[in-house]
Amino acid sequence: MIVNNQNKNINLAVKLLQQGEIVALPTETVYGLAADATNAKAIEKIYEAKNRPSYNPLIVHVSNIEMAENYCYIDDISRYLMKIFWCGPLSIVLPLRETSNISKKALAGLSTIAIRAPQNIFNSVIKAFGKPIVAPSANISGAISPTNAQAVQNSLSNKVKLIIDGGICSIGLESTIVKLDNNKLYILRFGGITKKMLKDALEKFNVEVLTIDKHAKIEAPGMLTSHYAPNAYVRLNITELYENEALLAFGKQTIKNKEKALKILNLSETGNLSEAAYNLFNYLSILDNSDVKNIAVAPIPNIGIGEAINDRLTRASIRNE
Ligand code: TXA
Ligand code: MG
Repeated sequence: MIVNNQNKNINLAVKLLQQGEIVALPTETVYGLAADATNAKAIEKIYEAKNRPSYNPLIVHVSNIEMAENYCYIDDISRYLMKIFWCGPLSIVLPLRETSNISKKALAGLSTIAIRAPQNIFNSVIKAFGKPIVAPSANISGAISPTNAQAVQNSLSNKVKLIIDGGICSIGLESTIVKLDNNKLYILRFGGITKKMLKDALEKFNVEVLTIDKHAKIEAPGMLTSHYAPNAYVRLNITELYENEALLAFGKQTIKNKEKALKILNLSETGNLSEAAYNLFNYLSILDNSDVKNIAVAPIPNIGIGEAINDRLTRASIRNE
């Protein structure tokens, strides 16, 4: 059931979490499917509802740095990043505190956790709940992430009792996941915080910001497989449209045979990458829910948040068949 974000509904969400239920909540990135991070049974419900493989660990959400302290060891650089980017779309991988009562079910056997402090409604829920909350994106595993309440309802339907409507997510893409290793900061997943933002923040520390080598050991197990995939086939970096394709356009680029498009949606008429990120998942699902079987996507500049957009699009175009 979708409900508005009035206090009584926030309180109801907290109550359900206390009872070991799962609820869907908005964040600034995408909607999350939330459960008590210390309750193994509740966490099992998440994996079941999403049909998520158990080897894919969940992000631990806290309200602030002080709360994070109880669950992981925070080095100086990671703490600095938290001060700059929290509350916001940055998840940091850190060693788990042995005394932490985070359920092993959420961690896929790792001795690290990815931790972040989300904004707004989700943050209020954590504060009222008083414990950390795990939350993957509120969609069936491998499908397009939801950036509005209706998209959660469409993906998970009767598997979640309560969906709090917080409108459209302001960023529209998941958090960036980073990990500090040997004075180098590795980006494990591109997202709402760009590489440039991280570089600028860390300039005075002489910390290099690197993108994880695709062939390196998979650090974020959910990273390399097909993901964010619509049912339709997705063709990227197109300059020409084929028969029977819808067009996901960007800016004012000229696309040959554009008039053949079954449908056209433009991620950003003005070529604004943040606007494109905001629209990406929503537009992909609108096209996918129409009769369209093939989606052709115009080139997106690979700068700033464009890197995260291209990462999602690339994985949307890979099919596990
Ligand atoms: O923006 C977000 O991060 C959203 C909202 C709801 O907060 N959540 C989200 O969760 O995107 P999910 O489950 O869809 O993606 C979590 C990613 C997965 O790729 C997982 O492999 C990685 O985080 N991850 C979790 N724990 C990790 C760890 N200890 N080390 C490396 N990667 C980890
Ligand atoms: Mg996800």
